[in-house]
Amino acid sequence: MLSFFLRTIVLLLFLSLNLFGTFASLTPNLCPLDQRDALIDLKTEFKIRKPDEFLDYDGNSMNVTSYPKTESWANSISDCCNWEGVTCDTKSGKVIGLDLSCSCLHGRLEPNSSLFQLQHLKSLNLAYNNFTLSPIPDKFNKLIWLETLNLSESSLKGHVPIELLQLTNLVSLDLSSSSSASNSYFAPPPALLLSIENPPLFLPLLARNLRNLRALDMSSVNISSEIPQEFSYMSSLRSLHLKNCYLIGEFPSSVFMIPNLQSIKLDHNPELRGELPVFSINNSMQVLSLLETSFSESSFSGRIPSSLGELSNLSSLVLFSNGFIGEVPSSIVNLKQLTIFSVGYNKLRGNFPSGLLNLTKLRGIDLGSNEFTGFFPTNIGQLSKLEAIFAGSNFFTGSVPASLFQISSLTHIYLEDNQFSDILGLENISMLPNLQYLFLHSKSFRISSPVDFNVFSSLKQLVGLALSGIPLSTANITSDSDFSSQFRYVYLSGCNITEFPEFIRDQRNLDSLDLSNNNIKGQLPDWLWRLEELQVVKLSNNSLSGFDGSLKAVTGSQINVLDLSSNAFQGPLFIPSTSITYLFVSNNNLTGELHYIGDFHDYGYYTSVVLMNKGVSMALERVTCTQLVKKCFHGTHPIVFGKPHRAGITGSIAKQAFWYTVSTTNCSAYEGNPGLYGPSLKDICGDIHAPTSLPVSEEEEEEEEEESLSWIAARIGFAPGIVFGLTIGYIVASYKHEWFMKIFGRNKHSFTHRSHSPKH
Ligand SMILES: *[C@@H]1O[C@H](CO)[C@@H](O)[C@H](O)[C@H]1NC(C)=O
Ligand SMILES: *[C@@H]1O[C@H](CO)[C@@H](O)[C@H](O)[C@H]1NC(C)=O
Ligand SMILES: *[C@@H]1O[C@H](CO)[C@@H](O)[C@H](O)[C@H]1NC(C)=O
Ligand SMILES: *[C@@H]1O[C@H](CO)[C@@H](O)[C@H](O)[C@H]1NC(C)=O
Ligand SMILES: *[C@@H]1O[C@H](CO)[C@@H](O)[C@H](O)[C@H]1NC(C)=O
Ligand SMILES: *[C@@H]1O[C@H](CO)[C@@H](O)[C@H](O)[C@H]1NC(C)=O
Ligand SMILES: *[C@@H]1O[C@H](CO)[C@@H](O)[C@H](O)[C@H]1NC(C)=O
Ligand SMILES: *[C@@H]1O[C@H](CO)[C@@H](O)[C@H](O)[C@H]1NC(C)=O
Ligand SMILES: *[C@@H]1O[C@H](CO)[C@@H](O)[C@H](O)[C@H]1NC(C)=O
Ligand SMILES: *[C@@H]1O[C@H](CO)[C@@H](O)[C@H](O)[C@H]1NC(C)=O
Ligand SMILES: *[C@@H]1O[C@H](CO)[C@@H](O)[C@H](O)[C@H]1NC(C)=O
Ligand SMILES: *[C@@H]1O[C@H](CO)[C@@H](O)[C@H](O)[C@H]1NC(C)=O
Repeated sequence: MLSFFLRTIVLLLFLSLNLFGTFASLTPNLCPLDQRDALIDLKTEFKIRKPDEFLDYDGNSMNVTSYPKTESWANSISDCCNWEGVTCDTKSGKVIGLDLSCSCLHGRLEPNSSLFQLQHLKSLNLAYNNFTLSPIPDKFNKLIWLETLNLSESSLKGHVPIELLQLTNLVSLDLSSSSSASNSYFAPPPALLLSIENPPLFLPLLARNLRNLRALDMSSVNISSEIPQEFSYMSSLRSLHLKNCYLIGEFPSSVFMIPNLQSIKLDHNPELRGELPVFSINNSMQVLSLLETSFSESSFSGRIPSSLGELSNLSSLVLFSNGFIGEVPSSIVNLKQLTIFSVGYNKLRGNFPSGLLNLTKLRGIDLGSNEFTGFFPTNIGQLSKLEAIFAGSNFFTGSVPASLFQISSLTHIYLEDNQFSDILGLENISMLPNLQYLFLHSKSFRISSPVDFNVFSSLKQLVGLALSGIPLSTANITSDSDFSSQFRYVYLSGCNITEFPEFIRDQRNLDSLDLSNNNIKGQLPDWLWRLEELQVVKLSNNSLSGFDGSLKAVTGSQINVLDLSSNAFQGPLFIPSTSITYLFVSNNNLTGELHYIGDFHDYGYYTSVVLMNKGVSMALERVTCTQLVKKCFHGTHPIVFGKPHRAGITGSIAKQAFWYTVSTTNCSAYEGNPGLYGPSLKDICGDIHAPTSLPVSEEEEEEEEEESLSWIAARIGFAPGIVFGLTIGYIVASYKHEWFMKIFGRNKHSFTHRSHSPKH
């Protein structure tokens, strides 16, 4: 009985399975054989290999997750219309869509690829694969129905074939990559993979043929040309992204006026000139990004047009590093949707643009390195969504307002190098739980009662803290004070500190430490040499008298620059690590031989020195120290960034580089120590002695130097220390705008996702 019952169940199961199978086989098999074969052939043309991590322009991971979509394709699943990434026409069954983005495809994309047999394709996405530097096949013109073609980040190389311009149905074309900026500011940028062979022919033809284009992204395609007027005829365009294309000449401002244009990004085209147009009412622009271009540099007005206020849907305005002058128009108060306002590195002046205070959606403000004056708004606190404010290197006066420290969303505060005399309500900073960077240093503070340093102990996310010039009291710090353990940059120069701060001991990530110009007495703790990431240590102008612990060089230390000058060190010179490239010990009472410093001689020249002007590499060449001196003080921006010739300093140097300026008093690095001797000293200094006839007098030079230093300081958020004979400072954590853009990366992308050229 039971067995019968079981058998019935089994039978029923069998029947139902059979029935299901019959039913499935009854569904019309959509996929025509030729299409299926083409797909199977296509699958076999490529290996499956996990690609390298995709990095954006600033070198940050784009978090692309890839997996092999074609691996599930198989003849046994007969209807190819059900295969992953494949879309068929519901009637004819022809394959009309293929999305193989992020599919780990690896291998050359050949002109004889069976891809080109899928002639009904309307949409093709091959982004984020690795076609191993093969050229874009000129056979794409066979896919005449294509409306969407996406070859972004797919390691294709060479000229963009002009045949692509026969695809007159295209609505979206993405040939972009984000070829990251040079991984070192001292190396030339990497060559771009794709380029346009004959731009005067190609670009106007593109504008004429691809009339239906709504999204065009050719970022990091080497165009090396002007953008022709014809681009403004592409009246369907919603988004135009031409970042890092080596564009030159005058950008036709009529392009900004394309009626439905919502997003235009021309970032990183330093030679691209242009002017913003007079915007008309009901403009639909949402993202306007001209980061590091030369807009308004040589134009008649150079001002940000008042008509900007017409862009009522604008959410992101980035005019960072251009030539804009004058005041920020008050009409910005109309930009109610604005989340990012970035005008750093221009020549803007006037008061803090008060219209910003009404824009409650703002998440980031960058006014840094301009000529703004006047008081900082006391009601800045009403911007309750603000995450980052960059306003360093301006001429703001008065007090840093207390309300700033009540915006709990803040992660980055950069107000350094202004003319502030006081900071109000700093004790409330402990209420900013997310704060990562606090750069307030300035020489202008006149703070009478010291700031309780213990208030910073509650900021557990702090990575960078620069309070140079602010008197601090460590009296309230106890053994229970639990500071952030994430510090990378701690700059407390001239803070009236009397003891070596204990919290430094646990900073495993600490990269640079400046405690110069304090009153620190006693021994230099030896745990300092065991902080593995530490590279730059400035302790000059204190009263340190010796080295704690064993005088034995530590292995594994990364310290490059150690400045112990003007202290009270006695006895034998101690060099705590062989990694030290620059050691400053002048004005102590040290004894010993300078033999070791022979290394210094090796670094007396620089393999790659880049003269920087406005963040643009101007020259790249090998110079000796003597030439360096000459170069430093020629030209309007006497700024030299250099990288020591030294094996082992590679790639990541961009995040942690050095700057050099040379003054007339050279070789003082070892001065004032009668006990120091060594025949090599002359050799060392022979190379770096300044020529007697500098093009400027000492005083002028110092001024210029000061200016250039503050330029750098502004850029890096670090106040320069004392000018040595050979001054060596450091750039920390790369450029501020990178930080700025990094924090808002997600916002940028989420916008583009909604529009027609999502990057993710
Ligand atoms: C593409 O593959 C080549 C090797 O064929 C490799 O060197 C390169 O790093 C890969 N690129 C990416 C983005 O995966
Ligand atoms: C990528 O992922 C990391 C870690 O999850 C995150 O910190 C970072 O913000 C992400 N980057 C982007 C561009 O989303
Ligand atoms: C396609 O072309 C490549 C290179 O010319 C060749 O190696 C390959 O055999 C060809 N494939 C087919 C299927 O013809
Ligand atoms: C861009 O192309 C120009 C001329 O075609 C070439 O001189 C230049 O080196 C290229 N630049 C990059 C970064 O590839
Ligand atoms: C602007 O838009 C509004 C409403 O969408 C419309 O009434 C008005 O006519 C438009 N103005 C212009 C100048 O196009
Ligand atoms: C601004 O955005 C809103 C909401 O997305 C939209 O309805 C409106 O048409 C846009 N205005 C313009 C001028 O594009
Ligand atoms: C800006 O906000 C202030 C109050 O915070 C208000 O008085 C003023 O009318 C606002 N301006 C505009 C143009 O909305
Ligand atoms: C600090 O914050 C508290 C609470 O928000 C506030 O009452 C107080 O006025 C703030 N202090 C200053 C100096 O603003
Ligand atoms: C510096 O510290 C000393 C004592 O350590 C104190 O007397 C002096 O007032 C402090 N100076 C400032 C400007 O806070
Ligand atoms: C120590 O903390 C107390 C309580 O928060 C405060 O009143 C005092 O001013 C602090 N002392 C110093 C020297 O900052
Ligand atoms: C320097 O050190 C020597 C001993 O090494 C000592 O005799 C001398 O007094 C010291 N000079 C000063 C100025 O401290
Ligand atoms: C191209 O495809 C990638 C990956 O799917 C996507 O992030 C990007 O937004 C696409 N480009 C356009 C213009 O749609």
